Amino acid sequence: MLNREDFEILNDGLIYFDNAATTMKPRCVVDSIVEYYTKYTANAHRGDYDNSLRVDKKYEGVREKVKNFINADSVKEIIFTKGSTESFNMIIFGFMSVYLKKGDEVLLTKGEHASNVLPWLNLSKKIGFNIKYIELDENYRVTLDAVKKNISDKTKVISLAHITNAIGDVRPIEEIGKLCLENDILFVLDATQSIGHLKIDVKKYNISFMGFSAHKMLGPTGVGVLYGKEEILENLVPIEYGGGMNTAFSSDGYYEIKSLPARLEAGTRNIAGVIGMGSAIDYLTSVGMDKIHNYEMELKKYLINRMKSIPNIKLYNEDNDSGVLLFNVGNYFSQDVAIYLNQFKICIRAGNHCAKMLHEVICSSNTCRVSLYLYNNKEEIDKLVDALMNQDKILDTLV
Ligand code: ALA
Repeated sequence: MLNREDFEILNDGLIYFDNAATTMKPRCVVDSIVEYYTKYTANAHRGDYDNSLRVDKKYEGVREKVKNFINADSVKEIIFTKGSTESFNMIIFGFMSVYLKKGDEVLLTKGEHASNVLPWLNLSKKIGFNIKYIELDENYRVTLDAVKKNISDKTKVISLAHITNAIGDVRPIEEIGKLCLENDILFVLDATQSIGHLKIDVKKYNISFMGFSAHKMLGPTGVGVLYGKEEILENLVPIEYGGGMNTAFSSDGYYEIKSLPARLEAGTRNIAGVIGMGSAIDYLTSVGMDKIHNYEMELKKYLINRMKSIPNIKLYNEDNDSGVLLFNVGNYFSQDVAIYLNQFKICIRAGNHCAKMLHEVICSSNTCRVSLYLYNNKEEIDKLVDALMNQDKILDTLV
C-alpha cells in the first residue's frame, strides 16, 4: 500500500473499493481547503487586499500546476469547471454546436460514460450530425483497426474515455491521437477515470479537448478542468455569462468579454475546490504516477488470482491495464452482493456504472465493480474474497 496513513477515513477498517466512483482525500487536501476557509477566505480576481491577493496567487498557481501536470502549452488552455460533466457540456454545446454540421460524423463507443454520450445525443438531434459507435472487441476494448474502420471523410470528432469507468479498459490514445492528426479529426478525451492513475500528456496524444474531475484524483468534489488547445478553445462560445468574464457592458447592449481563460469562468468559482485540487496534484506528483500505476497493477493481479478461487464467479474484464474489475457471483443480483459486502465495511459499486449502453455489448446490465487505488492493499482483497467464499449468506443480509 502507498501512503495509507495519509487517509484518515481508512483508519476504522473501512475497505474502500469504489475508487472509480470517487476517491478518498489525503490529509493535505483537506488541510488546504480548511486553511483557505479559516486563514485567508476572499474572492479571486476581485480584491486589492492581502487575502485577496493570496487567493489570486493560489488560484492561478493551481492553473499552472494543472498545465504542468498534463503538459499543456499555456495556462490559457486550462479552465476550471464544476467537473467533467460541465467540461463536456461546454465542449459540446459551446464549441461543437457551431463546429458540426448536418451529415458530419462523431465517433463514440457504447462503453462511454453518460456525460460523453448524452450531450452528443442531444446536440445531434438539433443539428443532424450522425453518431457512430466504434465496435469493441471480445474483451470490450477499442482497437486501432476498429477506429480506422469507422473513420470516413465525414468524421469530424472522436470522443472517448481514456479509461472507461465501467470496464476499465485503457484506450490506445497515442495511436488514436495520431490517426486524428492525419485525418484532420478533433480528438476529445474523457480523462475522468485516468487522470489520477496514469500520466497524461495532451501534446503527445494530440488532444484537442479534455475533461476531468478532481474528486477522482484525490481532490474535492465540485471542481474539475476543461482543457482545450488554445487555437480551438478560442472558438468555444461561453455557455455562461456573468461577473469575472467581462471587461465592459452598458445599457445600449454593448458588452465585451475577457480573453482566455477568464472568459470561460463566469461567476465566483469553487475557489476552495481549486485549491484542494492543486494540493491533490502535488500529492500525486510526489508519490509518482508510474509508481501508482505499477502498484495498482500488482494489486489487480493479486485480486484476479484470488477472485478466481471463488466458486461461481464470472470476471468480465481481467485483461485490462487498470485497477477496475467487473464481476458477478452466480445468479446473485449485483446490488444484493454489494449490500452483503457492506456488512464487512467493504464498499463496491453495483449496477450499470453510468454506462447504460454497455449492456448491449456485455449482455449484462448489472455487475459488481471493484476499483482499486493506491491506498488499497492485499489484506483488504483477502477480506473481500473471504466474504465472497461464503456466498450462500448473500441473501441472509436482505431478510
Ligand atoms: N461515474 C462514476 C462511477 O463510475 C460515478 O461510479
